Amino acid sequence: MPLVSMRQLLDEAAKGGYGVGAFNVNNMEQIQAIMEAARATQSPVIVQASRGARQYSQDNFLYHLMLAAAELYPEIPVAMHQDHGNSFETCKSAIALGFTSVMMDGSLKADGKTPTDFEENVEVTRKVVEYAHERGVTVEGEIGVLGGIEDGHGAGGTGLEHVTDPDQAVEFAERTGVDALAIAIGTSHGAYKFSKKPDGSVLKMDILIEIHKRLPRTHLVMHGSSSVPKDLQDIVNKYGGHLKETWGVPVEEIQLGIQHGVRKINVDTDNRLAITGAIRKVLFENPEKFDPRDYNKPAREAMQKVVAERMTQFGQAGHAGDYTPKTIEEMREGYLDGTLETRPSLAGAH
Ligand code: G3H
Ligand code: 13P
Ligand code: ZN
Repeated sequence: MPLVSMRQLLDEAAKGGYGVGAFNVNNMEQIQAIMEAARATQSPVIVQASRGARQYSQDNFLYHLMLAAAELYPEIPVAMHQDHGNSFETCKSAIALGFTSVMMDGSLKADGKTPTDFEENVEVTRKVVEYAHERGVTVEGEIGVLGGIEDGHGAGGTGLEHVTDPDQAVEFAERTGVDALAIAIGTSHGAYKFSKKPDGSVLKMDILIEIHKRLPRTHLVMHGSSSVPKDLQDIVNKYGGHLKETWGVPVEEIQLGIQHGVRKINVDTDNRLAITGAIRKVLFENPEKFDPRDYNKPAREAMQKVVAERMTQFGQAGHAGDYTPKTIEEMREGYLDGTLETRPSLAGAH
């Protein structure tokens, strides 16, 4: 099946009351790990590429690997999403390449570091929505800023500095017409999110619940949602790594979010840890080995295991065959005739 609209995946997830994992990829093995996990659990899935991933793979390598995935796993609805687009141009180039969804992260300036003001964010996001919807492509926006810095992307800080203001979330959804809304509730990208198991003082699930109450039809997105499991940290450290003690977002908090409108959950770090741990283990135990397949294969399996586990925990498992994917042309028509309208004041009018 061709690459599917992310909006349709999220609409279906809302109907079914489950969340969909969005997993970052940079190479063939990561795509294979996700697709094998999706097949094993019968899950629809979102595969996403950051700007760094697109640069690393020169765009076309990654895109053609995704076409191979769609061809080899025809029973799996899979959307291809630009993660943290930093400008209109980045989103435009992802759409030109064939991505079925883009994130315009207007919470930061194009440098990927400096927080924008609200009006700036609305302006650039609205421009991307207009351009993308005319082409049947889904748009995720972000209001509020995550903590941490990943590959040079992010404002730094603890994650509590720019938690989303629910009033602004409502105004943002109304003025931009985004399909999905990423909010900041205290999480950060990367491994170092919390210095102990997070409670309500650092992980603001109350804000998320409030935003969902006020925007019941908006698909919410949780970024920085790796759980950073201790067993994965331990493997890395046992075989020569040096990770400091750290906590991620507990799966039960994500599940609470899913009960309150979260439909897309971004996970990258957990897979990075699984891959790195597996590679370290092989090389530590077998210093004579030098065939990359000897460590890439266990690394791929380790990532597949994490992804399959998340797919089950997020509830997307078993839903791959629930619906017939719409074409991007059908999505375009839906945006044009208003049936896919998301602005709170207009949604449901058609
Ligand atoms: O947004 C963060 C994702 O983990 C992607 O990270 O920019 O290092 O590819 P990256
Ligand atoms: P993690 O670093 O928690 O995996 O978050 C990934 C992410 O939000 C990608 O956009
Ligand atoms: Zn993110």
